[in-house]
Amino acid sequence: MGAKLLWLFLTSALLAYYIYTPIPEDIGEPWKVMLLSAGFRTMGHLVSLLGLMHYMEVLTLITAAEYVAPTSDENVTVMDTEFSNVAVRLYLPRRVSDGPRRAVLFFHGGGWCLGQAGMKSYDQLSRWTSNLLNAVVVSVNYRLAPKYHFPTQFEDVYSVTKFFLQSSVLSQYGVDPDRVCVAGDSAGGNLAAAVAQQGVYCSILEYVLTGCCLKREF
Ligand SMILES: *[C@@H]1O[C@H](CO)[C@@H](O)[C@H](O)[C@H]1NC(C)=O
Repeated sequence: MGAKLLWLFLTSALLAYYIYTPIPEDIGEPWKVMLLSAGFRTMGHLVSLLGLMHYMEVLTLITAAEYVAPTSDENVTVMDTEFSNVAVRLYLPRRVSDGPRRAVLFFHGGGWCLGQAGMKSYDQLSRWTSNLLNAVVVSVNYRLAPKYHFPTQFEDVYSVTKFFLQSSVLSQYGVDPDRVCVAGDSAGGNLAAAVAQQGVYCSILEYVLTGCCLKREF
């Protein structure tokens, strides 16, 4: 009995040590974050232990499994197309608008080598953004490393941005030129910051408030 209790205690302590990751206090649901992180770590360990495939190949498979086809709903029309020879997924609000709409150019994350606008989570985020903000969302499928090396990822999102900011394209989609922003998560956040640095800011204040606000003079 004593030995069993000791084992239970030791295994629990080791498990807690494996799962526990220090997390800043202001982050919500810290245990969920820790469990997710431990899950990814375990997957990495298992994959390399078994030597089945490269960790990157596993992540690429997950990306593929998460893919959803462009599907319109009652609020948003969704379609895959190309802007300046770069694949994009477009989200066009269906509701009638009083005036020109906002637009968000969104760049997904994935370390410049993974991810895609059609992943379920990104698709839901863009759909939600489009409906909530009454905004045209352009989610860019920039070409990925390692097949395409830096700076291809930047060049792709930059050329989509320049293409979209042409007056003829903005008016085709009914977008207000003064209410276009770039956004992204993770590697996409880096790309959004890099694109914003090429543009002319509306003002420093607006930059702070909105992340970045682009003008048409590129
Ligand atoms: C459409 O928009 C309404 C109002 O924002 C929302 O309640 C509804 O869930 C949306 N429909 C879909 C399919 O997302």
